[in-house]
Amino acid sequence: MNLFLKNISQLVTVAARGKTAKTGPEMRDLGIIADAGVLCREGRIAWVGPMREWRETLGPDDGELDAAGMVVIPGFVDSHTHMMFAGSREKEFALRAEGATYQQIAEQGGGILNTIGHVRAAHKKALKRQTVAYMNEMLRAGTTTVEIKSGYGLDMDTEVRMLEAINELRVEELMGVVPTFLGAHAVPPEFAGRTGDYVAMLLETVLPYVGRKKLARFCDVFCEKGYFEIADSERILSAARSLGMDLKVHADELTSLGGAELAARLGAVSADHLEHVSPRGISAMRDAGVVAGLLPGVSFFLNHGYAPARALIDAGVTVAIASDFNPGSCMSYSMPLMMTIACTQMHMTPEEALAAATLNGAAALGLASEIGSVEVGKRADLLVAEIPDYRFLAYHFGTNHIRTTVKNGTILEF
Ligand code: NIG
Ligand code: FE
Repeated sequence: MNLFLKNISQLVTVAARGKTAKTGPEMRDLGIIADAGVLCREGRIAWVGPMREWRETLGPDDGELDAAGMVVIPGFVDSHTHMMFAGSREKEFALRAEGATYQQIAEQGGGILNTIGHVRAAHKKALKRQTVAYMNEMLRAGTTTVEIKSGYGLDMDTEVRMLEAINELRVEELMGVVPTFLGAHAVPPEFAGRTGDYVAMLLETVLPYVGRKKLARFCDVFCEKGYFEIADSERILSAARSLGMDLKVHADELTSLGGAELAARLGAVSADHLEHVSPRGISAMRDAGVVAGLLPGVSFFLNHGYAPARALIDAGVTVAIASDFNPGSCMSYSMPLMMTIACTQMHMTPEEALAAATLNGAAALGLASEIGSVEVGKRADLLVAEIPDYRFLAYHFGTNHIRTTVKNGTILEF
């Protein structure tokens, strides 16, 4: 079964041309083809080009979609989320509106620990049900691959339950799902004041089990003052590496602790947040090829400073943007909104923002040879948007322009 998208007014391929990401000035080259067609065969892209070069004839069972007047882009790759959770935190949102800070709320037992209580009490079925509901909304808004972290359990049972649920969704649902173990997200109440004991428990019990059962593709750590500092983060990440996981770091979000340098030293695939990354951290990431996973929605939602996107791009670091969707620091999964914030607050161009939300997001998940651009051989994950120009995705914000989501060559019906 083939699917042919024809007469596409503007096809934004984000072609990588054999590279695994776009870096520096390459981010502005989106490989746009006017009046284009894309053929999907068995879930993959089989042909891309201008309509005038299209020669094949379709069979009677093949599908066709006339995309005249439409823009087609690769599906968004949301490379950093905490989208499996229970409960909600609108009270903390209201407190922040009155002047409380994210850290103050956390110190008073709210924040991550608030969500931990709800997730520990939730059955696997309930966690899956809510996550699937969000996944459907995300597919409608154009996200075709998502990374999902554990980290709202912080005990053996709940961390494993979350990872099993995430892995089950990976198999059952049409969306691409990448599971990440984030046991070092916070120190749970029963270990309060005993971070070392909690780290020992992770190293001795949880990590080996997660590794043995192959429950996670990545291991991540919230490397931050008062959470897991450099030495503890390094022990956890090194252990995860020896168990076969690739590495990610929540780095330099609230303070300039050196998480970016740690990510570079350990050869992590990405270091994310980076609101307080140092110049030394930036060069270390560039030299080690660590992707910068920027999260514009967090700075916007918490009214914090923004990561230095321009300095990172201009230094030659590969920059991706993601939502960080979670109930505390960014209650939004909208990748176009993240692009708008990246353009207005972080001085990224609309081209850079689009490359960062697609191909470079794929790079942040080690999947750039599979997804993230419209190129022959890649998975046919495509979005059909009813806009006159790709820049409208970020420019005309606060509304969903995606009319059709194609995942693995199949048109999703909502
Ligand atoms: O990426 N920084 C740590 N973790 C999340 C927030 C999670 C929460 O507040 O529930 C983040 O921003
Ligand atoms: Fe996060």
